[in-house]
Amino acid sequence: MKSLIVKKIKKPFSKNFEVSSDKSISHRCAIFSLLSDKPSVIENYLNAEDTLHTLSIVEMLGAKVERFENKIKITPPKKIKEPPVILDCGNSGTAIRLFMGFLSSKDGFFVLHGDKYLAKRPMRRVSAPLNSIGAKIDGRDNANLSPIAVRGERLKAFDYESKISSAQVKSAMILAALNADGVSFYKEPHLSRDHTERMLRGMGADIREKDCKIEIHPLKSPLKPLEIKIPSDPSSAFFFAIAAAIIPNSKAVFKNISLNPTRVEAFLVLKRMGAKVDFNLKENIYEPIGEIVVEYGKLKAIEISENISWLIDELPALSIAMAVSEGVSVVKNAKELRVKESDRIKSVVENLRRCAIKVKEFEDGYEIEGGEIKKAKINSFGDHRIAMSFAIAGLLNGMEIEDIECIETSFPNFIELLEKISEVEILGD
Ligand code: S3P
Repeated sequence: MKSLIVKKIKKPFSKNFEVSSDKSISHRCAIFSLLSDKPSVIENYLNAEDTLHTLSIVEMLGAKVERFENKIKITPPKKIKEPPVILDCGNSGTAIRLFMGFLSSKDGFFVLHGDKYLAKRPMRRVSAPLNSIGAKIDGRDNANLSPIAVRGERLKAFDYESKISSAQVKSAMILAALNADGVSFYKEPHLSRDHTERMLRGMGADIREKDCKIEIHPLKSPLKPLEIKIPSDPSSAFFFAIAAAIIPNSKAVFKNISLNPTRVEAFLVLKRMGAKVDFNLKENIYEPIGEIVVEYGKLKAIEISENISWLIDELPALSIAMAVSEGVSVVKNAKELRVKESDRIKSVVENLRRCAIKVKEFEDGYEIEGGEIKKAKINSFGDHRIAMSFAIAGLLNGMEIEDIECIETSFPNFIELLEKISEVEILGD
């Protein structure tokens, strides 16, 4: 098990951070390439553990993957192959849930599994609606926990109203709907990240939308292949946005980054807290892409209880900004945090307390009283976003983060970028 020591930053920084490619879009590129009958060409595919697991599953399902310098070419198989092995999704909830939807109508038997953290995460939110339209999905705890077994079946068209705003559930259902026997409808309480709808529409799928209700027409023929350059990941960039916001006189610039409104809400929250944040739109490839600039500002406390699905991955990093801002910040309606790569309410609360910050825990969030983040030993709980959030907090007074291997799941060059602004040391093997 490796630990990361982060030293207190010596001077302000002004830097352009080349953060890695978007994780959500990368997963989707690999899986959606199977919906075409021609090769897809993807530039800047995320080279991190989660998305590499997805790519190797796509290979095991029969696709040919050719790797070039910063491009991959995925040639889909004529027919999805029934693999003789378990499909390993690693740590990735996105991979397992999207494959459940995709495979539920494919001829054959498929077993999806992952690591010890993924094995604890709820899958019934996907298996139940899929089984209700004719899918045959089973797993531990009555189709809730992996290993998950899928036997492809003919699916019925549906009109499903989800109780949670989850892009993973939505995407699984859309993938199923593309092969159902009629037009399907999917509704969620609040729009979750919409990469699936944007990308599939770009590939030629007939997906319409009104008042958070999506209408999905089954495919009449294979979709057009993807030709895409994946932008940088705003959720990864956000760690360095927090660094700029809490270190006086500092500035972080992120270029070629997704400006999809369902992904940049945390930057807007940071702006409301007092940081200087600017967005510059440059182009539109499936979604808006451009530049984000974040500069230090004296931060004040904030209450967050809305748009939670647009902030879900950034709340751990935001908790660091809350912990140094003036006043008491509150996060509510965020129960979904409990079923992420770790129970993120518990991981944030416990680790902030270790840093001498006063925190109250609620079932659906927490209250953080701004103060000084002291140096402490942090438990990442095997969760990449917890490890990276507290590594950034360490810029203030130093920090030791235990169990940092998880950073590789989403942001392989995180430590390299951190080293550009402060001294770090890695202990253990
Ligand atoms: C993701 C959706 C979100 C997010 C995850 C990636 C996606 O999960 O937390 O990191 O790519 O669809 P939920 O859909 O479970 O909220």
